[in-house]
Amino acid sequence: MTMSVPPGDPPPASWRAPWKGVPIPAWRYFREVSSTQDVARAWAEAGAWEGCLVVAEAQTRGRGREGRAWWSKPGGSLTFSVIVRPREQEGPFLGHLAGMAALAVCQVLEEEGLHPSIKWPNDILLAGRKAAGILIETSWEQGPVPAYAIVGIGLNVKTEALPPSDQVDFPATALEMHWKKPVPRARLLVRIWRALFHWRIRVGRRTLWERWEARLAYREQQVLVMVGDQTRRGQLLGLTPDGRLRVRWELGEEDALLTATHLRPLGKT
Ligand code: BTN
Repeated sequence: MTMSVPPGDPPPASWRAPWKGVPIPAWRYFREVSSTQDVARAWAEAGAWEGCLVVAEAQTRGRGREGRAWWSKPGGSLTFSVIVRPREQEGPFLGHLAGMAALAVCQVLEEEGLHPSIKWPNDILLAGRKAAGILIETSWEQGPVPAYAIVGIGLNVKTEALPPSDQVDFPATALEMHWKKPVPRARLLVRIWRALFHWRIRVGRRTLWERWEARLAYREQQVLVMVGDQTRRGQLLGLTPDGRLRVRWELGEEDALLTATHLRPLGKT
């Protein structure tokens, strides 16, 4: 079934200007949308190319991982989704898409002198608090790789965009608390898109997982992590080459986790 693709709103000049000369196939701007993931998915279904981007000032039903809601506030957040079309040979490395997105955000923040870390698989932390979240949704039909993946990125830019602390499962922070000058959201978007495609062509390569691992939060530390419905304690060792989380449990056995939730440094539940 083909879903119709909403055309978007005319982007203000301030959103258009930073794209000048940037080789993006197409992008759409929305003042308000249910979720940029939904629009990007419909667009991908209609045949949009890799790299196409959907950005919205506000989302009425923004979503995060594990069914959580994602807050955004007009003017206070940066919320967008990018279409990626994995190649067949990337099948064993689909986990790298999470690293790709996380590294892209980190790269831009580092260029601004900030010191982000990555809470595996792809939450971006500044001073130990979550500044950005990444959601990757795939569409599988058949074959070794999905027809497309939608990489959704949400950044807390202004403090007023932060959700109330009783509604988050991890302490949050906003970019403006760390960035020394006003955060130019439209420029930031373009820089992250460019960085995303710097890392996109490194999916499956050693350099991607090494850089991802080097930025991992809690490396070598004791952590609590939920596996299935069990909270377990162990030491966070690093990553496997395909991006799984290596942990050594209390009794000394090692695991490589494909999925896990509620990763916390020990002492902060
Ligand atoms: C998480 O931390 O759980 C992931 C959050 C991902 C939020 C972004 S905002 C843009 C895109 N649209 C959504 O509805 N979600 C993602």
